[in-house]
Amino acid sequence: MSGVELKTPDQLRTMRRAGLVVAEVHRAVREAAAPGVTTGELDQLARDILARHGAGSSFLNYGAAWGYPPYPGVTCISVNEEVVHGIPGPRELVAGDLVSVDFGAIVDGFHGDAAITFGVGELSEADQRLSDVTLESLWAGIAAAHLGGRVTDISHAIEKSIRARREHYGILKDYTGHGIGSEMHQAPDVPNVGRPGRGPRIVEGLALAVEPMVTLGSAVGVTLDDEWTVVTKDGSRACHWEHTITVTPKGLWVLTAEDGGEAELAARGVPFGPLAD
Ligand code: MF3
Ligand code: CO
Repeated sequence: MSGVELKTPDQLRTMRRAGLVVAEVHRAVREAAAPGVTTGELDQLARDILARHGAGSSFLNYGAAWGYPPYPGVTCISVNEEVVHGIPGPRELVAGDLVSVDFGAIVDGFHGDAAITFGVGELSEADQRLSDVTLESLWAGIAAAHLGGRVTDISHAIEKSIRARREHYGILKDYTGHGIGSEMHQAPDVPNVGRPGRGPRIVEGLALAVEPMVTLGSAVGVTLDDEWTVVTKDGSRACHWEHTITVTPKGLWVLTAEDGGEAELAARGVPFGPLAD
C-alpha cells in the first residue's frame, strides 16, 4: 500500500497519548469560551496545556516548509461563517457565536488531530442542529470503518448521514480528512462524500483523521487574504467536527476522544477496540 504509513501498536499508544492532550485542550477551551473572551486567549490556553505536557503543536508554523505563510497559532478557531483555519487573535466572542476549535498535538513524534464545534451561550435552533448533524455524520463515518473495508466507506457513511436530513446542508469537497501519524497530514485523503468501496484498504496500523465540514448553505469555501481562513462563499454558518481514529483487531479506537469512543461506539453497536497498555 504505497504512501500509507502503518503504525506499530506502540506507535498507536503514543498517538493515544497525543489524542488525550487534544481532548484535554478541547475540554478546557470549551469551558473557557464566553462572551468577551478572545480567540487569542483560547489559543494561549491551548499553548499552556501543551507546555504542561511537554507536547508539541501540529499546527504552529505549518506551511513554512513549502513557502506558505507559516500558521501562527496552535489552534484554528473558526467562528460563524468561517469553516476552517480561522486564525486566533483579538476577536472577542459574543453570545450566539458558532465556534469550531481545531487542534493538533505531537507526543514523541506522533500526532493527534481533532475539532469540536460549540456555541457561545445559546445557539439558534438551526446552528445547534447543524452541529448535531455534523457530529452525527462524524460518528456515522467512524462507525463505518472496519478491517478489510475501504477508506471511502467512511466518506459514503458521512455523506449519507447528512443527506438523510430533511434540511439542506452544504458539504465542503475541497477539504478532506487524512492519514495521520508521524506527520499530521498523510495519505490517504478521507473525503466527506463519495461512493463506498474505494481507496486504500483499512488495515491494522492505519490511522485516519475523519473531519466533516458542513454548512447551512453553500458547499463552496473561499480563502481570505490572510491566506488561511476559509469562509463560506454565501456567508452561511459552518461547522467542523473531527477525530483521529484507528482500527484494531478488536474494533475501533477513537484516539482523540476522552473515552476512546467507547460510549458513542456502543450506541451504534460497533465494537470498541483499544490496545492494552
Ligand atoms: N487540523 C487541520 C486538519 O484537520 C489542519 C490545520 S491547518 C494548520 O487538517 F495550518 F493549522 F495546521
Ligand atoms: Co485534520
